[in-house]
Amino acid sequence: MINYPEFVLSLGSGFPENGIVTCTSPSNIALVKYWGKRPVQLPENASISFTLDSCKTITILKYQKLDTVSEGFNFELFFEGKPKPDFKPKINSFFERISGYLPFLKHYKFTIETSNTFPHSSGIASSASGMSALAFCLMQIEREINPGITDETFIKKTSFLARLGSGSACRSLEGPITVWGDHQHIEGSSDAYAIQFPHKIHSNFNNYQDTILLVDKGEKQVSSTVGHDLMHGHPFANKRFEQASDNIIKLKEVLISGNLDAFVEIVESEALTLHAMMMTSLPYFILMKPNTLSVINKVWQYRKDIGSKLCFTLDAGANVHLLYPEAEKNEVLDFINNELVVYCQNGQYICDKIGLGAKIL
Ligand code: PMV
Repeated sequence: MINYPEFVLSLGSGFPENGIVTCTSPSNIALVKYWGKRPVQLPENASISFTLDSCKTITILKYQKLDTVSEGFNFELFFEGKPKPDFKPKINSFFERISGYLPFLKHYKFTIETSNTFPHSSGIASSASGMSALAFCLMQIEREINPGITDETFIKKTSFLARLGSGSACRSLEGPITVWGDHQHIEGSSDAYAIQFPHKIHSNFNNYQDTILLVDKGEKQVSSTVGHDLMHGHPFANKRFEQASDNIIKLKEVLISGNLDAFVEIVESEALTLHAMMMTSLPYFILMKPNTLSVINKVWQYRKDIGSKLCFTLDAGANVHLLYPEAEKNEVLDFINNELVVYCQNGQYICDKIGLGAKIL
C-alpha cells in the first residue's frame, strides 16, 4: 500500500545494467525512547537520539539487471562472509514493504554482503545500523535512475525506507542528533522519517562519549517487536506517550542550553521508564540483569562523590550505555576500568561517541 506518494520513484533515465555500492551506517542510542507503534512502523511518540560513530554496519550491495522482471525478490545475503539464510525473511519483508517506493527492486538480482564493526552477539541490536545501511545502498541505485533527486529528498526518503525496515533505523542516517516522530515543538518533524535536530546544539555535547558496557551478550528473551505490541492496551500507555512528548520539549531546551544536570535527569528517567513499561505490561518481562542494576548504583555513587555529569541509558536489553562529556573522558575511563568492568561479560565494553550518520565508501 502506498501511503506516501511523494516517495514513489518517478522513473528517469532507465535502469543501470549492474553496479556495486558500499555504504556504512551507524547504530544510534535514544535519549527519549520510542516504545509503542501503530501500523506500519509509525511511532506513538516522538524520539530523539545520538547517532553513534564507530558501532556501525558496512554493507556492499551488488546489483545485476535481470532479463525478465522476477516474481519475488531475487537476492543473496552474506553476513561476515558467510551465507545467512535466517536473515532472509526479514529482508524479504523489508523489500515487500518498500517495493512500491522503489519499483526497480524486482528488476535486479542483488547480492548483499554485510558486516558489523561491533562484535556479533554483543547484545547490541544491529537492526538500526543494518537496515539504514541497506536503505542507503538502495537509494544510491535510485540516484542513478533519477539523478535529479535533491539531497533533501534523498535523505528523507532514505530515512523513510529505513523506518520500514526497523523503526529506530530511520534515526541513523544523519547526526549528531536526530528526531523521529511528529512533534509540535520540533519544526519539520514527521512520523514518516527522522530529521536532524533543527537547532544549534550546545558545545557541551561536542564529541559526547558513549561507552557501552556489555553486561549480557545473549539474545534478548523478548524481541522489540513483541515489546512494542505490548504497549497496546498497556495501562500506562497514554501517560507514557504524554511524558515522552513533554521530555522532547525539555530535552530540546537542554540540547540548546547545555544544561547537563537536566540532561542527566531526562535521560536516566527515560531509560528507567522504558524498562518500567516492560515490567508493567502483560505478559511482563525484565531485560535488565543484576549487573545492570549494580552499574546503575555505581554510576549514581560516582556522580554524587565527584560531581560528574556521567549518566546511563538503556536500550531494550541489559547492556548499559554510559554517556558523558568529552572533558571527563580520562576520569570516566579510569572509573570504568577500576570499578565497572567486573560487571561486564568477559570484561568487555565498547568506546563510542556521537557521530554523523551514513556514508558511501
Ligand atoms: O527500532 P525497534 O523497533 O527495534 O525499536 C527500538 C526501541 C528502543 O531501542 C528500545 C528505543 C529506541 O527509541 O531506540
